[in-house]
Formats: sequence, structure tokens, C-alpha cells
Amino acid sequence: MREELAKLTVSGRIIREAPVSIAVFMDTSVSYHREKDLQAIGACIENMLLAAHCLGLGGVWLGEILKNSHKVKELLEVPEHWDFMALVCIGYPAREGRSTRRPLEEVIFKWVD
Ligand SMILES: Cc1cc2nc3c(=O)[nH]c(=O)nc-3n(C[C@H](O)[C@H](O)[C@H](O)COP(=O)(O)O)c2cc1C
Repeated sequence: MREELAKLTVSGRIIREAPVSIAVFMDTSVSYHREKDLQAIGACIENMLLAAHCLGLGGVWLGEILKNSHKVKELLEVPEHWDFMALVCIGYPAREGRSTRRPLEEVIFKWVD
């Protein structure tokens, strides 16, 4: 299964090497407001990544694989009304620290009276 999923994205190496991959879906049959539900799922995924981090694990959010959503759904045999949102790969970090970040001044617009 892992190899079949890995073939569906340019990020396949991450799926092959991570001990755990969690596929996240939106159940559209209980969705009441698509935008808000999408935001909630994004927050849910972020919480999963933060929880993994707190446990000393590393997590990667994979979205590129969404180009093959229908194939993922076929592979995992999920109901048609579940929309594939992301794959979250969890494993042991290969290294400490974090990747570089753009400085805050570049991404925050400060408006002062
Ligand atoms: C919505 C979304 C989709 C992403 N899709 C991918 C992906 O398909 N492949 C990938 O290597 N990284 C993807 N990333 C980036 C990684 O999850 C991660 O954010 C990136 O490796 C940088 O991590 P770091 O800066 O916390 O170290 C995605 C991130 C987001 C927010």
C-alpha cells in the first residue's frame, strides 16, 4: 500500500521512508459549510503535526498527491463522499532543528496609528 501511494506523488520518498502515513478526508455528507470545514481540517492537520512534534516525532504535510485524489480513494477504498484532503507522514526526524523561515517583516504588514 505504501509503495502504491508513493507512486502517486513527487514526494513518494517521504511516504516510503516514514513509518506512518495518515490519510485525511472530509466527509462531505456531514459538511455544513465547505470553506469553514476546509479551515477546520487545515487546523486539524496542523494539530496533528504539533502533536507529533511534542512527541519528538517529525511530520510532513503532503498535498501534491491531491492531483491523484481519485486513485488514493480507490486504493484506500473510501466512500465516494469522502474528499481526500492530505496525507500526513509521521516518522523520526533525520535531523534536529527546523528549515529556514522568511523574516517576519517580510510576511507581516504592520499598521500603526
Ligand atoms: C498544504 C500543504 C501541502 C504540502 N504539500 C507538500 C508535498 O506534497 N510535498 C512536500 O514535500 N511538502 C509539502 N508541503 C510542505 C511540508 O509539509 C513542510 O511544510 C515542508 O517540508 C517544510 O517543513 P518545515 O519548514 O516545517 O521544516 C506542504 C505543506 C502544506 C502546508
